Amino acid sequence: MDQNAYLDNVKELNKYAYHYYVLDDPITTDDIYDRLYHKVLAYEEVNTESIAEDSPTQRVGDVPLEGYEKADHLSRMWSLEDIFDADELLKWLERTAKRSEDALFYCEPKYDGASLNLVYAEGRLVQAVTRGNGLTGELITQNARTIKSIPLTIAYDGRIEIRGEVVIFKEEFERINADRAANDEALFANPRNAAAGSLRQLDPRITAKRNLVFLPYGIGENELDIPLLSARMAYVYELGFKKPPMRQECRGFSEIEAFYQKMRDERDDLSMMLDGMVIKVDQVEIQQEMGYTVKNPRWSVAYKFPAVEKLTKVKNIVLQVGRSGVVTPVAIVEPTHIEGVVVERATLHNFDEIERKDIRIGDSVIILRSGDVIPKIIKVIIPERNGSELKVERPTQCPVCDSELLDEGVLIKCQNLKCEARVVNSIIYFASKPCLNIDGLGEKIVESLYQSGLVHSVIDLFSLRMEQLLELDGFKEKRSSKLLDSLEQAKGCECWRFVNAMGIEHIGEVASKTLCDAFGLAFTKASMEELIALDGIGEEMAGSLMEFIRVNREHIATLEEILLPSIPEAKVEASENPFKGKIAVLTGSMSESRGLIKELLEGYGAKVSGSVSKKTDYLVFGDDAGSKYDKAVSLGVATITEAQMRTMLE
Ligand code: IVH
Repeated sequence: MDQNAYLDNVKELNKYAYHYYVLDDPITTDDIYDRLYHKVLAYEEVNTESIAEDSPTQRVGDVPLEGYEKADHLSRMWSLEDIFDADELLKWLERTAKRSEDALFYCEPKYDGASLNLVYAEGRLVQAVTRGNGLTGELITQNARTIKSIPLTIAYDGRIEIRGEVVIFKEEFERINADRAANDEALFANPRNAAAGSLRQLDPRITAKRNLVFLPYGIGENELDIPLLSARMAYVYELGFKKPPMRQECRGFSEIEAFYQKMRDERDDLSMMLDGMVIKVDQVEIQQEMGYTVKNPRWSVAYKFPAVEKLTKVKNIVLQVGRSGVVTPVAIVEPTHIEGVVVERATLHNFDEIERKDIRIGDSVIILRSGDVIPKIIKVIIPERNGSELKVERPTQCPVCDSELLDEGVLIKCQNLKCEARVVNSIIYFASKPCLNIDGLGEKIVESLYQSGLVHSVIDLFSLRMEQLLELDGFKEKRSSKLLDSLEQAKGCECWRFVNAMGIEHIGEVASKTLCDAFGLAFTKASMEELIALDGIGEEMAGSLMEFIRVNREHIATLEEILLPSIPEAKVEASENPFKGKIAVLTGSMSESRGLIKELLEGYGAKVSGSVSKKTDYLVFGDDAGSKYDKAVSLGVATITEAQMRTMLE
């Protein structure tokens, strides 16, 4: 790179940064930014005399915003240098080895959220300050106090800074966005933005509703006399902070690399988003010897995961009709590799979302894929447009059966119960794992059964005969008899599978189990009052079920006759005790797994539910009880310790 190319790159970086930090409206992905940043940094390292004054490398952080009081950190909050592959790891290790040959390494996740510095004095949380520019940040103590994983008091008398990342778990992120979509509010692009935005709310009540989580990663000012970082962190967890889902002490390249691969492979299964792994020298004394550059500690580095956000182009926007008739727009994008998966489709949620983001066919867009989250378009790069992009209109006709659509605003629905897409998708759902789990009845087969005219409803499946199947394309003897066998095996299924498989709106797996536990097959005769008396069944669910039964009475009866669902044997009646017939909720860590304690209570005739409501009789809590405990207290539900529960059972 020559001097001119270098200056162009600095300019480009500054443009990206302006869009990201000032306008809150990114025009590129983090990955592209990081790579360019590193190119610039590499140039500057060898051309120290010609570093541009406005190079982002010369900026030590971002400016705290107005609206909050500012506060100084007791000791500086540093950033981390990034590395992207095994080569760079090797180089980093060589550099550290030059400074000390004895270094051991502590590895933990790099969480993707917003950093926060907590100050405790005499055992009390006295300040919570955002990172800001590393020296000064925003004072958001009130907001931090709403975060359940931040202890308000700790068993440590001196003054100590506990640093960590505030994150939103993936599931909670989906929930918040679903709520926002239903209320016609703009969606958060990713859990990190959602966490940062929620943390810096001027109104702490909004922060409190967002279920933020604090994950500690370090200690600032302190008077600890513990020589290893790993042991210091263990001490922090002892004080009542959350542990990382994975952490490991490693001795050198191969152990670090292996642990990195493991974390990368397992991260989709973790509740929080990770964007890499942080490697830190474990011995505090060696850390101090190694010291800091302008921005970063020399004793730590962030080993980033491959990007999950990528730039691509929208080739087309197609419509999908689901089993309930909801029409969902889906973007077909230029195939893009993200973490070893080729992404070709991205969900667009609904038409309001397309209009809000102004997504057009031909647009350059940023897509995001993260673990279990379905790939989605988070942003259109408007400056890339050339005028040839096409807007998509809200559909008025079903793309599959051509009948008129009902436009309810957020949702657009095909109301034709016989629409091929609805029928085919409900059969696929019927056969899926959480329903009847029928092997050999996948998408393609259901489609060909439907198109051959053999199957028009789930009931037809059970009168299929060998000679009919053999006439279908691709059906030889083996495949046909396998399908007929699996259909036979579906008979006698558990009652809840039968209920779940019918695909009743608002009634999923959990509700189906609740219904069958309470009524068995007689759920069709339950009254509205009886239904809503059940824990976890609200008015909307009960209403939807009653309506389904009213309209489909005959269908239910026929299906029941075919499937002969089994009812779990009535449990032996428990003798009289304080928990019999009561609803209990368990929280916190107990002397045995909560699964075992649940079984114990169920044996005494209690029902153990996952969430606290007005119907809960007892909240049984162990150590580290969190939001369920607070909710129980606020609803006036009796709270008892595990020990108290055991005494009551004696
Ligand atoms: S250590 C002394 N550890 O990443 C080094 N940071 O790029 C200071 N982060 O500002 C940071 N997980 O907000 C550290 N396990 C982890 C982290 C972590 C996430 C964030 C943190 C920091 C940024 C640095």
